[in-house]
Amino acid sequence: MGKEFHIGKAVRVGIIGYGNIGSVHAKWIGDGNVRGLRLTAVCDCDEEKRRLARQHHPGVLVTASWEELLTQSVTDAVVIATPHFLHPQIGIAAFGAKQHVLTEKPIAVSVSEAERLIAAAGKTDRVFAIMFNQRTNSLFQKARDLVAEGKLGELKRVVWIITNWYRPQSYYDSGGWRATWAGEGGGVLLNQAPHNLDLLQWICGMPVSLAAHCEVGKYHDIEVEDTAEIFGELSNGARVAFLTTTGEYPGTNRLEISGGLGKLVIEEGRLRWWKSQVPEREYCFHSDAYDGLPKVTLEEFGEGTDSSGHGIILQNFADAILSGTPLIARGEEGVRELMISNAAYYSSWKGREVTVPVDPDTFDEALAQRIQSAGPKGAVRKDMLNFSQTEYQKKWQVNW
Ligand SMILES: NC(=O)c1ccc[n+]([C@@H]2O[C@H](COP(=O)([O-])OP(=O)(O)OC[C@H]3O[C@@H](n4cnc5c(N)ncnc54)[C@H](O)[C@@H]3O)[C@@H](O)[C@H]2O)c1
Repeated sequence: MGKEFHIGKAVRVGIIGYGNIGSVHAKWIGDGNVRGLRLTAVCDCDEEKRRLARQHHPGVLVTASWEELLTQSVTDAVVIATPHFLHPQIGIAAFGAKQHVLTEKPIAVSVSEAERLIAAAGKTDRVFAIMFNQRTNSLFQKARDLVAEGKLGELKRVVWIITNWYRPQSYYDSGGWRATWAGEGGGVLLNQAPHNLDLLQWICGMPVSLAAHCEVGKYHDIEVEDTAEIFGELSNGARVAFLTTTGEYPGTNRLEISGGLGKLVIEEGRLRWWKSQVPEREYCFHSDAYDGLPKVTLEEFGEGTDSSGHGIILQNFADAILSGTPLIARGEEGVRELMISNAAYYSSWKGREVTVPVDPDTFDEALAQRIQSAGPKGAVRKDMLNFSQTEYQKKWQVNW
């Protein structure tokens, strides 16, 4: 895709949203770290952000509106790093302007909006990617391979405790859009946990039903949830428990998948794989040793070299545009984790189990009610807006 169009020349990229992560992507590309990508434009509606962009990227077009950026013919591709509600809106316009699109997660706030963006992408021959940078971690890739190859047997249970997304109150106070239904569209499930919900479905498949409990402002002064527990079921009947919060410190990142042929645990930067020598179901019904246990062996894997997952996704985006390299995370796949978080919100609001996905219109109506009944956001801490342009925050990578 795009081979004939770009062959032999760099893809010109615009960054839309020059905040925490957009400025990091701009710097990474601007410093020449991505083969085949050249930073040619930056857009941010905030004047101070534009001043910083001009200072750090002289010679690059800086605009206040993304509509303007898209009409300037100085880009072949855009990276969308704005607040969540804008992702589909900007993405659709960008495809209309024949741009390749890499959107930050989540793909949208609601499945209906995600589907509008996916439909727009489907009408073009442009590359559509999403920044699921944690998919580049070798341990999650190994887990995915083991499950796909049937090495764990039929899945029985998946438990992910992902409670190390710690955020202090000042984080939530740092932006008017943060931690509001109207601005962000949700809390930990929509901002931090999309990476883990995506990995969960990427490795184990989609849940078909779930019941969730989302706790609004349990540890912070916010109107959305900072703590959530999801209990679901995969299509084969395997149970899923997913526990997350931004309010515990120190937190835990522990994924356990057990199946008929053993189990794997990913924790503290290593994957441990216990392999049963006989399938457990067979042992259960054919062993005469009523106090015996099936024999297991243990294999361990460490993490690969520590590198920026974001940089790998950006390089993969460039390679997909220039030479048709398959994407690590296709944009369309972004809707899957969103189906889980939309269902989790709806289940929690209704206090009952729901099938996945929930009807998009029904969800939209329920979300609109939340937005309508939300109070005004407290004062934004302007002193928090002085982010460092050069500091790459490790908290965005996989943490143990
Ligand atoms: N993949 C990751 O590891 C990762 C890490 C952080 C953030 N994110 C995602 O990136 C996105 C941005 O998050 P952030 O933390 O950088 O937020 P941020 O608030 O720091 O930055 C967003 C920027 O968008 C600008 N903006 C808002 N409305 C705009 C508009 N209409 N036109 C142009 N610019 C506009 C804001 O002024 C701000 O500078 C979110 O989707 C977030 O979930 C992803």
